[in-house]
Amino acid sequence: MTKRILFAASEVYPFAKTGGLADVAHSLPRALKNSYDSEVILPLYRSIAREEYSILPIGEPFILRMGDVDYSVEMYGCTYEGIVYRFVYSPLLCDREFLYGTAQEGYADNAVRFGLFSYAIMALLKEEQYAIVHLNDWQCALVALLVHDDLEVTTKTLYTIHNLAYQGLFEATVLKELGISDSYFTHDTLEFYGKVNFMKAGIAYANTITTVSPTYAKEILTPEAGCGLEGFLQCHRHKLTGILNGIDTEHFSPTSDRALVAPYTNVKGKKPSKSDLLKQLGLKGVTKPLFVFIGRFVSQKGVDLLIETLPKIAAMECNIALLGEGEEQYYEKLCGVIERQPNIRMTFGYEESFAHRMYAAADFLLMPSLFEPCGLNQMIAFAYGAIPIVHRVGGLADSVERFETYTHESSEGYGVVFFTPTPRSLLLAVRKSCDLYKDKKLFDQISNHNMQCDFSWDQSAKSYITLYDSLTIGEIV
Ligand code: GLC
Repeated sequence: MTKRILFAASEVYPFAKTGGLADVAHSLPRALKNSYDSEVILPLYRSIAREEYSILPIGEPFILRMGDVDYSVEMYGCTYEGIVYRFVYSPLLCDREFLYGTAQEGYADNAVRFGLFSYAIMALLKEEQYAIVHLNDWQCALVALLVHDDLEVTTKTLYTIHNLAYQGLFEATVLKELGISDSYFTHDTLEFYGKVNFMKAGIAYANTITTVSPTYAKEILTPEAGCGLEGFLQCHRHKLTGILNGIDTEHFSPTSDRALVAPYTNVKGKKPSKSDLLKQLGLKGVTKPLFVFIGRFVSQKGVDLLIETLPKIAAMECNIALLGEGEEQYYEKLCGVIERQPNIRMTFGYEESFAHRMYAAADFLLMPSLFEPCGLNQMIAFAYGAIPIVHRVGGLADSVERFETYTHESSEGYGVVFFTPTPRSLLLAVRKSCDLYKDKKLFDQISNHNMQCDFSWDQSAKSYITLYDSLTIGEIV
């Protein structure tokens, strides 16, 4: 019999998405195919269209006791494209405008909200037999502690860090509300500079830990990228592995993408998409290189570098299109820059099909991230024949080779790589990109080569399956 695995995440595409976690939670469970019978669990946020996906209640509402309070919880479910999804509904967790809060500030009661999500996952683990529960980011991290504490639950736990910069930090008083004993408020458990750190629960108590690229797995052991947890991670490094994410190559496929004006199989076929986007944005010059940025306007994504460099990039013969949302301060600064540049456009917000059209139209994707655990956009860019311009860090270092070293026999994807996150390096990289664009033959060769590269989950899913197998046959205890 195929073993069952429960994949728990606070966001899953297409139901709820703010970042790459949602894409991974969508595509990894599918990639496990016949090896594991995967189910996915997430909160039933108010924004999720219940009718569209035929999401229906499973059983009766029930009471979950957490701390001294009784919470009423309902489980819902649906099957979507062959995968079973389970949803946790409680007004406290789900009836909000945003998933976690605004870009500036998380909701004050997030500890209790995601504590409750974790208790609901635990209730399911008690009721159904899962060999493994795969937990993602701080929102589900407490489950590792709850399983560790409950001798009746034999499910093995795997914890994935998608981004160490978001750890789930709360006042010490939340422990009582979470029904977690004070004995867990120590340096080697959940305490972190006087606060409670959810991520520490995942790191300390999961049977095994992964992060989303091999380079990031090394970087987080250092003070530069460890976000204060480097020492703690070093204590647990024996159970830490870096596995590069993949992308869903059916979802991100220019040959069959229904969001595009004209599907295509090679770089020449991008023309209609480029003309269409330029027209839509009111930009001129199909023969000029088009640079795009798609991502959250947060420091991690190198937005400061971008803001400083944009006027100089705009002075070159090119067009620039930005898509994203995020911190107010960045939005305002970007607006300030763009006002004065006739060849830059910014679209605020995030719409999946518009993002697809941008990848299809783009010649280059700007990705100057200061740090990047994995990054999926560079892989999507490869698939759509847009050449990524990246800072060599984290998953970008593991997935983008320097175009100067291009050989057509290689199976790697190529881009324009810079090594220090400074405005000067970014600007030089963009200049190099403009030169590459002028060398039409090489540009086309590299784009076509990248489009053929395999960034599907096939390889990485195998690595996860090996880890799951070693957990279930008791090699990792
Ligand atoms: C986070 C990281 C990103 C990664 C994604 C999926 O959003 O910032 O680098 O690709 O999670 O793992």
